Amino acid sequence: MLIDRHHRVADYLRIAVTDRCNLRCTYCMPEQGIQYVPREEVLSWEELLRISRIFADLGISKVRITGGEPLLRRDIMFFIQGLAEISGINKINLTTNGTVTEKYLDDLWKYGVRTINLSLDTLDKAKFKKITRRDEFDTVIRCFGRMIKMGFRVKINCVVMSGVNDDEIESFVRLTENLPVSVRFIEEMPFNGEGKEEGHLEWSYIKILQHIKDKFEAVEKLEDPQNSTAYNYTVKDYKGSFGVIAAYSRTFCGSCNRIRLTPQGSIKTCLYDSGIFNIKQLLRAGATDQELAFAIQEAVSGKAKDGFQAELLRSNGKPVSESMSTIGG
Ligand code: 5AD
Ligand code: SF4
Repeated sequence: MLIDRHHRVADYLRIAVTDRCNLRCTYCMPEQGIQYVPREEVLSWEELLRISRIFADLGISKVRITGGEPLLRRDIMFFIQGLAEISGINKINLTTNGTVTEKYLDDLWKYGVRTINLSLDTLDKAKFKKITRRDEFDTVIRCFGRMIKMGFRVKINCVVMSGVNDDEIESFVRLTENLPVSVRFIEEMPFNGEGKEEGHLEWSYIKILQHIKDKFEAVEKLEDPQNSTAYNYTVKDYKGSFGVIAAYSRTFCGSCNRIRLTPQGSIKTCLYDSGIFNIKQLLRAGATDQELAFAIQEAVSGKAKDGFQAELLRSNGKPVSESMSTIGG
């Protein structure tokens, strides 16, 4: 088992399979995009499957595939099929922007994926183009409809941005009236490829929640799944639910069960750390499975108490500014 010195068990691995993306969401990347990792620096599918097996042996039972946009990477279904065959891994979830997703839905279902996180920050076509700098709204909405129809559990990731989409919080909650979907309002973080001057967060999870409670009378608390980063709610008699994620306020670190692997092989035990070690370097230098497992255990054991401590301890000494697509959203 992977246990850290604060007695938390890591059983959830988030794998960013690529840092490439076909959108340019303002909160994630600058307009010109980011310097992508050269392909030879990215872990191959075979390397990723080997690492995943080692993680499964160490007690990882749940994997999220993320990016960048994971479905842009060639032969992604080869990887997902391989993951599904690893004993011990019993849940595979996916985060996607919905632009190229529809054609993969049948295969995803076949390989056992049942929950999909869809990035969608607006229900307005013109605003979608402003936020993502691409005109893909209709494609994404069509894909969303298809996912619901097929029976996927869909979670919408909505980053709340001041003066951009904060006027749509209510519409997003209304979406849950007749659709069995969970909308998750996420605090904006400075992971945008540029950083942010020291400032305060306008839309904290507390403010988002209060805003919703002011608009809807019958907001009811739902029981949160163990290790959930979202505080979950529903409006009475609504089919779906909503949640708020304190991604910047970092209130959920005490029960954190996650570990991250970046496209170029950096192992992160916290979103806010700058990488604990690079597993690709060890692996390509000929390390055995046992040596890799030991390195992973060491990294997890030293995991920071919370995201604030992880940020303070960043080995590069710089505040967070890297694009979320290089970490795994
Ligand atoms: N702040 C908060 N969430 C972000 N994401 C990406 N960048 C940020 C950021 N700067 C989340 C979005 C997206 C997912 C891939 O990562 O929710 O849907
Ligand atoms: Fe792409 Fe996701 Fe970043 Fe948007 S947030 S640019 S969809 S990786």
